[in-house]
Amino acid sequence: MKLENNTYNIQGIKIDELAREFGTPLYVYDASVIQEHLDRFRAGFSSVDLKVKYACKALTNMSIMKYLLKQGTGLDTVSLAEIQMGMTVGFEPNDMVFTPNCVDFSEIIEAVELGVKINIENLSNLEKFGKKYGGSVPVCIRLNPQIAAQSNNEKVDWWHKQSKFGISLDQIENVKALEAKYGLTIDGIHIHSSSVIMSPEIFINGAKAVFDIAMQFEQLDFIDFGGGIKVDVGDGNEVIDVLELGKQLDVEFSSFCKKYGRRLQLWFEPGRFLVGNAGSLITTCVLRKRNGGTEFIGVDSGFNQLIRPMMYGAYHEIVNASKPNGSQQKYTVVGNICEIDNFAVDRMLPETQEGDLVVLKSAGAYGYSMASNYNSRFRPAEVFIVGGEAHLVRKRDSYEDLVRNQIVID
Ligand code: LLP
Repeated sequence: MKLENNTYNIQGIKIDELAREFGTPLYVYDASVIQEHLDRFRAGFSSVDLKVKYACKALTNMSIMKYLLKQGTGLDTVSLAEIQMGMTVGFEPNDMVFTPNCVDFSEIIEAVELGVKINIENLSNLEKFGKKYGGSVPVCIRLNPQIAAQSNNEKVDWWHKQSKFGISLDQIENVKALEAKYGLTIDGIHIHSSSVIMSPEIFINGAKAVFDIAMQFEQLDFIDFGGGIKVDVGDGNEVIDVLELGKQLDVEFSSFCKKYGRRLQLWFEPGRFLVGNAGSLITTCVLRKRNGGTEFIGVDSGFNQLIRPMMYGAYHEIVNASKPNGSQQKYTVVGNICEIDNFAVDRMLPETQEGDLVVLKSAGAYGYSMASNYNSRFRPAEVFIVGGEAHLVRKRDSYEDLVRNQIVID
């Protein structure tokens, strides 16, 4: 979203035009930002055989998935439905990786039957996998190096010792025993530490830990570093420079490959890095209210449509697209949910009135995909702007959508 001539626009389309045409609340995604982030990511890793698998849990809109397919990415999936959506838009099954956690083994069987790459994160499923497939289906294992990931939020930090994710390093002997017992073909090692990682060090430390382990497996084709890279959301916190990360990781990776005796592929599963900055949630100020000493801006949205501020204390930059340059005042921006529902507390914003368009930025990742119908409100429509044209890529929910699966008994 750019501010030009006192007007916010996305690829030349004004925010108020979008609001007029599609209504608010509205999620809007800018393809050029996705493209720019993907290019930047690839430039960072230009010296390695990089495979980008878009973590589509971040934004599971099939038009976005198809756009990324056209840009040559694969897909990281976490459920059978994500695999199905990937297949529907044209991803080859073997360009998709299935990284579920705590699922019944039957889901893994279904994914194998569809031809999707399997990533297993516990000994129980690895044993079942061995029993069923032996070495006939190569498998990747997800490890938990138990290094503090130092993301800025414990809710998305998964490498600590109590975390449910991955096979901990003290279980490597068990993995090797299963490999020997069933003749497993372990062709990949995966780590994903957390989301919102602010420093390259975390990846480098993870890499060092995992390369030592990787030397013990002879049939590897790739190492998968997961996702987790923070994007710049204007909160003043550090952001990883992917060029720098690529440079540092390449040094470690090259020396590992030399020791290993083969050049492996390097996989990444970025979600937020690709789509986070590309999305905005356009809302309308429907109420100005003063309570106690607080000036409230009430918008026609809520945490049912963007839960990140309430769930993680996440920062989303907010702008008044109707009056970008008004005099600054302190506001608490709230939604319409029947409980505390702050998007921002005591935030300096241009003077805002009822009817103004209020936009929450960097809402592309884990915005719509975590939205719900709480309070029986409709989830917003989604618009994707590609090549200067706005496309409706998901309709707003309707009353029929809300009640579709309800069965009223007497
Ligand atoms: N790979 C795996 C195995 C993952 O679990 C995730 C995210 C990713 C890749 C992509 O991570 P990303 O690059 O998007 O950080 N709802 C939270 C974030 C949860 C991330 C879940 N796993 C939020 O809104 O911040």
